[in-house]
Amino acid sequence: MKPVKIGLLGLGTVGQGVANILTRNAAEIERRTGRPVQVVSAAVRNQGKAEALQLGLRVTTDAVSVVNDPEIDIICEAIGGDDPALSLIEQALSNGKHVITANKALIAVHGNALLSLARDNKVVLAFESSVAGGIPIIKALREGLAANQIEWIAGIINGTGNFILSEMAEKGRDFSDVLQEAQNLGYAEADPTFDVEGIDAAHKLTIMASVAFGMPLQFDAVYTEGISAITREDVGFAEELGYRIKHLGVARKRSDGIEMRVHPTLIPEKRLLANVNGVMNAVLVSGDAVGPTLYYGPGAGSEPTGSSLVADIIDVVRTFDADPVHRVPSLGFQHDALTDYTMLDTADYQSAYYLRLQVLDQPGVMANVTSIFGDLGISIEAILQKEPEASQDDNASVSGAVEVPIILLTRRVREGLIEQAIERVQALESLVQPVVRLRVESLS
Ligand code: HSE
Repeated sequence: MKPVKIGLLGLGTVGQGVANILTRNAAEIERRTGRPVQVVSAAVRNQGKAEALQLGLRVTTDAVSVVNDPEIDIICEAIGGDDPALSLIEQALSNGKHVITANKALIAVHGNALLSLARDNKVVLAFESSVAGGIPIIKALREGLAANQIEWIAGIINGTGNFILSEMAEKGRDFSDVLQEAQNLGYAEADPTFDVEGIDAAHKLTIMASVAFGMPLQFDAVYTEGISAITREDVGFAEELGYRIKHLGVARKRSDGIEMRVHPTLIPEKRLLANVNGVMNAVLVSGDAVGPTLYYGPGAGSEPTGSSLVADIIDVVRTFDADPVHRVPSLGFQHDALTDYTMLDTADYQSAYYLRLQVLDQPGVMANVTSIFGDLGISIEAILQKEPEASQDDNASVSGAVEVPIILLTRRVREGLIEQAIERVQALESLVQPVVRLRVESLS
C-alpha cells in the first residue's frame, strides 16, 4: 500500500523523538495502520547540525517548502512558540494537510480558529502531545471517558515546576538553585517563567478543560499563580500538617459555571497525586459514572512526547479515507454542541486555605485573629503556632515581643470571603508581613 508521508517541522528534542520512533517501530506501526508511515523531510533551523544527525531525511531550512510539498500528507509541528509555527500550521491546513502538534501555547490561544480552519479543509488538527507529554490524557478524556459527565480535573501538568517543588521538599533546596538545575537538564521552557509562573500549566489546563466539558478553548479565563513565592518554610509547615505543596491545574464544572485555576496547592500527603515527584506528570479526572481515575507518566522529553505525536499520526492514518463526519471530534464533542459556559469570577471560586501570618508574639493576637474568622463565618480546621526562634531573643522589639508564625487551615469557603478575612488580618498592628495564602484541595 502507498506509504503515508510525513513532513516534520523542527528536529530538536521532540522532532528527533518522532523520527526515531517512526524509524525504530516502523513495522509495528504498519501492523497498526495497514500502511507504511515515513518521514520524508524535515524543516530545521541549522541544516549542518540536522544533517549530522544522519536520520536519512531530506532536511531544509525552508519550512514553507515542507508545508507546500504536494507529496506530504501529514505535517508534524515540533517547533513550539507562535512564530513561525502559527503561520506554517495555517498554511498546512489550508493546503489540505493533516497537522499534528505538540504546541500547547498555540492550541490554547489560537486553537478555536485553527480547529475551524481544519474543519473547513476537512482535515484533522491533533494535539495529544500538547498536554502531559507521553500521557494519553486527551484520548482518555475524549474517548475512554466519553460516557461520563466530567466533574473535575486536577493535574500536575508542568514537569519543571514539579521538579522544583519535589527537590525543595525532599532535599530542602532553594527555589532558584533547583530552577537552574531544571534549565540545565532541559526540562524548562525557553522562557522558564512559563513554567514557574504557571503559564505553561494554564495552556495545558485550557486544552483539557475544553475536551472534558465540551466548550471552546478559553485561555484568558484561567486564573494563574506561580510557585516562585513558595518558601522552604511553607513547604515545612505544610508537611507538619500532613500536606505536600504541588503546583496544580484544577478545572471544575459547577452548576453555576466553570472554575479554571493554576496555583500552588496543599494536598493531603496520602493522596497519590501528592506522591508524584520530579518531572513526572499526573492528572486526576473525576467522572460521574466512573468516579476518580488517575493518569501518570512522563510529562516531557524526546520519546515520551514523540510517543503521543506518533499516536496522533496513527489515528489520522487510520481514518485517512474516512468521511470527516466519522472522525472523533477534536474537542470530543460535536462542534455545534460546544457550550459557552459561564466562567466564574475568582471571588466565587471555592477552596480551603492555608494562611501563614507572621505576627508579634503579644497577648491577644491569636484572639484578634480568630475573631476575624469567626465574624466572617469562616471555620478554622487547624491552627499551628510556632515558638519564637531562640536567635530572635536578641532582635526583640522595644515592647519585648518577637515574631512568630501562626498557620491556619480553613474549611472550604468562597474566595471572596477569604480575601475579606486577609484584608482585616493585614490591618492588625501585630502583623509584621503580608499574609501568605495557599489553597488546599482534599481531592476526595
Ligand atoms: N516545560 C514543560 C514542562 C515541558 O516542564 O512540563 C513539557 O510541556
